Amino acid sequence: MYVFVTDLTLESADLFVEGYTAEFPDDDEPVLRRADGSEVLTWQENYPFTERMGRPEYERQKRLLQIELLKLQYWVTETGRRLVILFEGRDAAGKGGTIKRFTEHLDPRGARTVALGKPSERERGEWYFQRYVRELPTAGEIVLFDRSWYNRAGVERVMGYCTQEEYDRFMRQVPEFERMLVDDGVLLVKLWFSVSRNEQRTRFVIRQIDPVRQWKLSPNDIKSLDRWDDYTEAKVAMLRATDTETAPWTVVKSNDKKRARIEAMRSILSRFDYADKDEEAIGTPDVRIVGPAATLLE
Ligand code: ADP
Ligand code: MLT
Repeated sequence: MYVFVTDLTLESADLFVEGYTAEFPDDDEPVLRRADGSEVLTWQENYPFTERMGRPEYERQKRLLQIELLKLQYWVTETGRRLVILFEGRDAAGKGGTIKRFTEHLDPRGARTVALGKPSERERGEWYFQRYVRELPTAGEIVLFDRSWYNRAGVERVMGYCTQEEYDRFMRQVPEFERMLVDDGVLLVKLWFSVSRNEQRTRFVIRQIDPVRQWKLSPNDIKSLDRWDDYTEAKVAMLRATDTETAPWTVVKSNDKKRARIEAMRSILSRFDYADKDEEAIGTPDVRIVGPAATLLE
C-alpha cells in the first residue's frame, strides 16, 4: 500500500489532496480509496456495465483475439497491404495500454508503433503532415499511431501550440489527406478512446501514487484537468470535420480498460476479411462499448 504524498505543484486539482491510498491487486485495476476508506468507483460513470470484465475472461478472450491479430498480420504481409491504426483520445484514456496488448504477440518485423514527440525546429518548418507521412507503412506493414496528426485538433488547439490559421488549414486538409491515403489502398482505422471526466481524474491520481505509472503523468496531463470543456469542444469540432465516410471514427468507451481493449481488437478484426478467419473467436463487437462516433459519443 502506498500513501499519497503531494509532490507536484498544482493549482487546480482539488483531487490531489492528501489522504488517498491505493492498492494494486491487479495491475489493470488499482484500487483507490478516500481518506475514509471508501473506494473510488469513477469507472462506473456513464458506463453500460456495473462489473468490470473479470481477469480470467479477459485473458481467455485476449488470447483468442491475439491469435486472430496474428492472422491479420500474416494476411497484411502476404498480400502486401498497408494497415494504419490511429489511437486517439484524451490523456489517460487507455491508448498506450491497448497498443501494448495489440502488439504483444505480433511479429515486430512487420508492426511498428509510432509515438512522435513535440515537433522539432526542423519539423515545424515542414508541411504539418510530413513527419507522419514519413512513418506510414510500406507494403506488408502495420503501423500503430499512439497519437497522430490529430494532435493539431486536440492538444495543439487547446494548449495553443498552433495558430488559428494552422488549425483551420489542418481541419480543411485532414479529410483530403485521408482520402488520398485510402484512395491509394491504405487501410485506415481511427479509434477514439473515450474516458469519462472523473475517471480521468482518478487515473491521474493513480499515476501519481503508483511508482510504475509515474512516468505517464506529464505536466500537460495536469493542465488538462482544467481543460476538460475545452477538450470536449475540440473533440466535437474534430469529429464534425473528420468523421467522414472514407475515414470514419470508431469510438471505444474505455472506463473499463480490459473491456475496451477486447472490444477494440474485436472491432478491428471484424472489419477485415483475412485468411483463416475464426468468426467465432472474434464474436460480435459490443455496440454499447465500440461503434461509430454518432452512436457512442455524447
Ligand atoms: P502523452 O502522449 O504521454 O499524453 P503529453 O500529455 O505530454 O504526452 O503530450 C501530449 C501530446 O502533445 C504529445 O503528442 C506531445 O508531443 C504534444 N506536445 C507537447 N508539447 C507540444 C508543443 N509545444 N507543440 C506541439 N505538440 C506538443
Ligand atoms: C493515455 O491514454 O493517455 C495513455 O496511452 C496511457 C494509458 O494507457 O492510459
